[in-house]
Amino acid sequence: MDKFLITGGRPLHGRIVVSGAKNAALPALAASLLTDQRVILRNIPRVRDLSTMRSLLEDLGVDSSVTHETHGNRVEIEARQLLNPVAPYELVKQMRASVLVLGPLVARFGKARVSLPGGCAIGVRPINLHLKGLEKLGASIKFDHGYVDVKADGLKGTDFYFDTISVTGTENLMMAATLAEGVTVLENAAREPEVQDLANLLNKMGADIEGAGTPRIRIRGRSKLQGAEHSIIPDRIEAGTFLAAGAITAGELVVDRCIPEHLTSVLADLEMCGVKVVGGPGGPQTLTVKAGSTLQALDVTTQEYPGFPTDMQAQFMTLMTQAEGSSVITETIFENRFMHALELARMGADITVNGRRAVVRGPTLLSGAKIQASDLRASASLVLAGLAAEGDTIIDRVYHIDRGYERIEEKLTQVGARIVRISESD
Ligand code: EPZ
Repeated sequence: MDKFLITGGRPLHGRIVVSGAKNAALPALAASLLTDQRVILRNIPRVRDLSTMRSLLEDLGVDSSVTHETHGNRVEIEARQLLNPVAPYELVKQMRASVLVLGPLVARFGKARVSLPGGCAIGVRPINLHLKGLEKLGASIKFDHGYVDVKADGLKGTDFYFDTISVTGTENLMMAATLAEGVTVLENAAREPEVQDLANLLNKMGADIEGAGTPRIRIRGRSKLQGAEHSIIPDRIEAGTFLAAGAITAGELVVDRCIPEHLTSVLADLEMCGVKVVGGPGGPQTLTVKAGSTLQALDVTTQEYPGFPTDMQAQFMTLMTQAEGSSVITETIFENRFMHALELARMGADITVNGRRAVVRGPTLLSGAKIQASDLRASASLVLAGLAAEGDTIIDRVYHIDRGYERIEEKLTQVGARIVRISESD
């Protein structure tokens, strides 16, 4: 397993380019199953989860081609036929987002057999709402040896209320409804930019979707969809992670090719804790974090979009270890998303975790140590800690970070960080 060796204490300076959003690219690849025509997707990030999704499509009998472009990969998919509508345990356990093929498979081919995702480091993360919604659309659901078999002889439009806001649940049902007969209304739908981006792609494919980005999405079903070309939105969480990297190293970092409008809650909280960021909604697609900020403690509660994103919680916790005072961080989305706190404490952070609440007392000097990544965003928070720490930090199991950050060590090295990848073979 690869490790990172980071020598901390160096302010970051320069320009860092944000890649395409993993969580927009994954549903977009799944959406290509809804048509037998060619779908061309651009600005696809070169991260492991997208390779996993392409392997899954291949397992289903759908080939895809990849071309390296200046900004990300260009992926072309033509789901003319389906050999085998099964998403196997081996792939689903690697990436829960594999469940995103469920809606398109049932809508287009009338059947799907998908491994239940099982547990995850950050929480139980069931898919009951995905399944309840498909059932309401007319599908039959059967559980069998750790798999769920979903069948439908044509889906029928319906009204479905999410009693918990679910990003991929909204995406799965929105995709399924594009080929259902009649109108579907999703209430209490997720409003994330990635949901909006998916709706934009689907409408380019001939779907008729209104309200994406609001809690109420109306989808008028079509008999078939056609091919389209679409460029994926930039990754707002990667952008937020780099803003935090600039702030915690007291550097001056230009975060380029991002969409400030997707980061309003993060920008507001960074400003409130004393981080100076130039740029914002309505301005150019770039944000600059300036040096000279004295960090102040700030209480933060994660919420569904447009609230403070749970995917930025770990990175913000690391930043608060350097802030003056006590910060209370409340995680409302997942039940076990503080594993990074234990690793940060090994570096000298003063963090008390109690259920879904963590109290961070700062500032504390972080000293380099051997630590271990546990999930995608926790690993990003440990990289930030390594950049700020005195001395060397070795982070093990960086395959977690490779799932969602494209070449993070190269991007950080280009702006002055001392970070090298130690491969297993080394
Ligand atoms: C998406 O996961 C993201 N993944 C996650 O990003 C992100 O953390 C999460 O949304 C929240 O924003 C992708 O988009 C691929 P949810 P998702 O369904 O859709 C409960 C990352 O770091 N729930 O919105 O799986 C669930 O347990 C990843 O890139 C049900 O109870 O999350 C959770 O408590 C991590 N039943 C809450 O809803 C369901 O059927 C929100 O989960 C579905 C969800």
